[in-house]
Amino acid sequence: MADGKKNIDRRSFLKNAGFIVGGGAIGAAGIALRPEMALAADAVKSVPKTVTQFRCPICNKDFASFAELKQHFKTDHPEHVEPVTTKLNINGEDCEVLIEPHWTLQRTLQFKLGLTGAKHMCGRGACGSCTVIMDGKAILSCMTLAVECEGKKIQTVEGIAADPKWRPLIDSYCKWDGMQCGYCTPGMLVSAKNLLDKKPNPTVEDCKQALAGNLCSCGTYHRHPTAIMEAAQIIKGGV
Ligand code: FES
Ligand code: FES
Repeated sequence: MADGKKNIDRRSFLKNAGFIVGGGAIGAAGIALRPEMALAADAVKSVPKTVTQFRCPICNKDFASFAELKQHFKTDHPEHVEPVTTKLNINGEDCEVLIEPHWTLQRTLQFKLGLTGAKHMCGRGACGSCTVIMDGKAILSCMTLAVECEGKKIQTVEGIAADPKWRPLIDSYCKWDGMQCGYCTPGMLVSAKNLLDKKPNPTVEDCKQALAGNLCSCGTYHRHPTAIMEAAQIIKGGV
């Protein structure tokens, strides 16, 4: 603070850099209010519930458009990173997210799109819990920048779980108890689906190789090949 600049962390930067939505959610949340707070809550009810504006997270100035905010960043805060708009295709849906350029795909999925399946565990490419499929290839979303994913098709465990074709894979994991705490399970399922895309009739060895990059601290390894191979037969219509 000695130089008069706000010391802003990444979380508050992103929280404030995009749309700011305000409203009378206090009453709706069912919180008991003191009388003076109830008056304040009534006042909130009387204003429009949604206010959209672009606020500078450094100096709190408001702007009418993202373009104006970007220009303000360039002229008044050149030392700070500019947020970027990134276009992604996630599970077949096109979307645009406002992020810092160094945000990983995993972080973007979790904090901008609410997709929590790809887990941030090691954050350094060692455990596979953040696995997603990009253009038909299993990748580690903690090691991939979201801005690198423009123009690619990303599939997450949410998209796989929502597709009836892959329901037998989920069911088979449940049947064979392929998870305990479940933290690694989304990454395992994505790797398994990626295997079945390429090898609809995998062997035990194929399964082990496909899941070699997915670590499970609960030790469920031996159950995965059974679950995957049984699911493969059902998906092919053989059971
Ligand atoms: S969180 Fe990505 S590999 Fe561990
Ligand atoms: S089921 Fe717990 S880490 Fe794999």
